[in-house]
Amino acid sequence: MKIYDLRSDTVTKPSEEMRKAIYRAEVGDDVYGEDPTVNRLQDLSSKITGKKASLFVSSGSMANLIALYINGGRGKDVIIHKDGHSLHHELGAPAAIAGVNLVGVPGERGILRSDIMVDYVNSPNGSYHDAKTSMIVIENTHNFAGGTCYYRENLKDVKIFADRYEVKIHMDGARVFNASVATGMSVKEICTYADSVTFCLAKGLGAPVGAILSGSKEFIEEAKTVRKMLGGGTRQAGILAAAGIYALENNRNRLIEDHINAKTLAKTLDATSWAQVDSTKIETNIVFFNTIGISAQKLERKLFRRGILCFATGPNTIRFVTNLDISKQDINSICGIISAIEI
Ligand SMILES: Cc1ncc(COP(=O)(O)O)c(C=O)c1O
Repeated sequence: MKIYDLRSDTVTKPSEEMRKAIYRAEVGDDVYGEDPTVNRLQDLSSKITGKKASLFVSSGSMANLIALYINGGRGKDVIIHKDGHSLHHELGAPAAIAGVNLVGVPGERGILRSDIMVDYVNSPNGSYHDAKTSMIVIENTHNFAGGTCYYRENLKDVKIFADRYEVKIHMDGARVFNASVATGMSVKEICTYADSVTFCLAKGLGAPVGAILSGSKEFIEEAKTVRKMLGGGTRQAGILAAAGIYALENNRNRLIEDHINAKTLAKTLDATSWAQVDSTKIETNIVFFNTIGISAQKLERKLFRRGILCFATGPNTIRFVTNLDISKQDINSICGIISAIEI
């Protein structure tokens, strides 16, 4: 039985071509800054984000943590959407390691808005009793809101607000390339609204390991020391960076296919008697749907027995993420299996 893994876009395996790029990678000791392939990946990333410098790190969580450590700061408030990844899915590291107090703020579609944040921000000359707000984290696309994007007006709104309160913006752009494809904005333009940016190589782009943190030269210099402190200084990492370069050069333009597949999947699910999802609200590669008349856990097992892997995120909620290893033909097969399921 063919297995269709839709649990996440992190489950993809490196292609033959990507493996060849890994095999051919020139390497050196990256802790000394001497790995030419890592340096090439970092330079390419800076070109893409429009930032002055970039750093290759092990994961999106590590990139976010380094940004929170440097621009958040111990005992400071950092505003984040209430369903944000750093708030719920990074093991409390922002508090435990960076010492920041993440403040969860509501917002439709996972998007932060100035008229809501105003009730949560503590200004530099505010009350003696309040932790000062140092930073805002925007998650673009927003994972648990369903792969939703910040559009230009959303980004402008947050930036004007951040400038007014003199706080920094970190963009958790784990899936910023999906946001770029969906909004028509270049990654560079999106990044102009943030002081620092995380993006993942090992999600929609299909690399096996790694993420990038981009920002100013001074910020990245400091980030290097924090990365080392976290145990993230690696040596001949060019082996992995080569996969990242391959991913950036070859797997960006195809992300639109994942978005089209996600829409098809959502429409098929909504046409069943046991799932509800508004397919018009699917913006990128993430589909959350509600189960009807069956628990998410039971449905997850039912789908698994038919070769479809998904992620039950709540008692009645399931997430599918389309990805590089799921073709249009696969989606047609998956939709056929889904349509035949009776509850
Ligand atoms: C929005 C977002 N940020 C950060 C991360 C963390 O990335 P990593 O798994 O590489 O630590 C994820 C992972 O799913 C994510 O969805």
